[in-house]
Amino acid sequence: MTAPIPHLDVYRRRRAHVTAQLGDNAIAILPTAPVRLRNRDSEYPYRFDSSFYYLSGFAEPNAWLVLQSDGRSILFCQPKDPEREIWDGYRLGPEAAVAALGVDEAYSCDELDARLPKLLENRTTLWWPLATHEGLHARIDGWLQRVRARVRYGVLCPSVQRDLGSLLDEMRLIKDEHELHLMRRAAHISARAHVRAMQRCAAWLRAGRPVHEYELEAELLHEFRRHGASGPAYGSIVAAGANACVLHYRADAAPIHDGELVLIDAGCELDGYASDITRTFPANGRFSGPQRALYDLVLAAQQAAIDATRPGARFTDAHDAAVRVLTQGLLDEGLLDRQRVGTLDDAIAQRAYFRFYMHRTGHWLGLDVHDVGSYIEPSEVGPSSLRHDALSGEPIIDRPARILRPGMVLTIEPGLYVRPADDVPRAFWNIGIRIEDDAVVTATGCELLTREVPVRADDIEALMRG
Ligand code: GLY
Ligand code: MN
Ligand code: MN
Repeated sequence: MTAPIPHLDVYRRRRAHVTAQLGDNAIAILPTAPVRLRNRDSEYPYRFDSSFYYLSGFAEPNAWLVLQSDGRSILFCQPKDPEREIWDGYRLGPEAAVAALGVDEAYSCDELDARLPKLLENRTTLWWPLATHEGLHARIDGWLQRVRARVRYGVLCPSVQRDLGSLLDEMRLIKDEHELHLMRRAAHISARAHVRAMQRCAAWLRAGRPVHEYELEAELLHEFRRHGASGPAYGSIVAAGANACVLHYRADAAPIHDGELVLIDAGCELDGYASDITRTFPANGRFSGPQRALYDLVLAAQQAAIDATRPGARFTDAHDAAVRVLTQGLLDEGLLDRQRVGTLDDAIAQRAYFRFYMHRTGHWLGLDVHDVGSYIEPSEVGPSSLRHDALSGEPIIDRPARILRPGMVLTIEPGLYVRPADDVPRAFWNIGIRIEDDAVVTATGCELLTREVPVRADDIEALMRG
């Protein structure tokens, strides 16, 4: 007897929401992710397709979901196979899938090629994810050829193909209560992991023990797994000193020295949902003067971005607010030369801050760490203007940015990265700082999910003394 997947109704409701948007006489096809080989016959740990999981709650590979505009859903999944199950583990199987997943019909994935052409016959519109599943186009073409071969018998072949990906992306952008519950739990676990890594780092250095980046990564993993998260939602960054200025650095083998900052960007994945936290802290538990000056500047920029994250605001407002605070601070601290860059507005217009702050202030967060959903406001895709980038000269088409709505989840993550250069005060060289929290847009502003890990410099120092 198989236990039904919890919250069956959640997935049923999501599928109903999709089928209601397909239009008359339409069908949608969505496969999960393939198993991927790592080397020889070893596989990467399996991760389902996020949208497939969003609509099914089903985590096995070799599965397909077919949705019809009459509201019916059909699952294709791996058949029961006692011998394969000895090697690879339990399979739900189509017989149990109907009750366990709440779908209307379920068949073996071995029957896909036989059943799909029949399901496509006499439909007007076929929805499938146009851009994300390698090899799917050819598979669908093959099924459509089989339908076309029967037109002389009066069968109709779908004449319209539409992108299921965009439809699901927009749905996933607004999180439902079930998702927010999971994201709060994921955030809670990740916050505990950051606290643990900070405390261990200072305690080990105080005890005179050498500390390496990978040891703090191990502390994060320990905390993720012991609370039931599947692992990191993305490759953890644990960067000591100058390594923090490498944006995609991964936890490596560098020793962490007394007096350096450590940047940790890490978050767990829980039941498919990502969290994404960055904290930057002094390895020994005490910020130096220059470290503290830049830290407080990044924190002030983050607060300005948080204040700009509310319903009705544009997605880019948070970035613009952070850039303004950072650029003013760079002028005040002498990292930008007023003689050369002029006023605050001039410096922003020329993107003079870009050599110290070269990424965006946030991204959508959900089943994927860089989650789906357009960053352009769909109701305003028409208006656009052309400009040339101040630094590269690249032509850029500006379109109105997304208007924030309650239920959207995004990160707020300004930073500063100072590489050695003759025109930069030496005291700031090799300091890399990012502060990142996860936020849900609410009816009045935003709720930060990740503040169980301290963020004020004084609070970090107090935590690390403990
Ligand atoms: N950790 C990935 C990011 O912050 O975007
Ligand atoms: Mn992020
Ligand atoms: Mn991050």
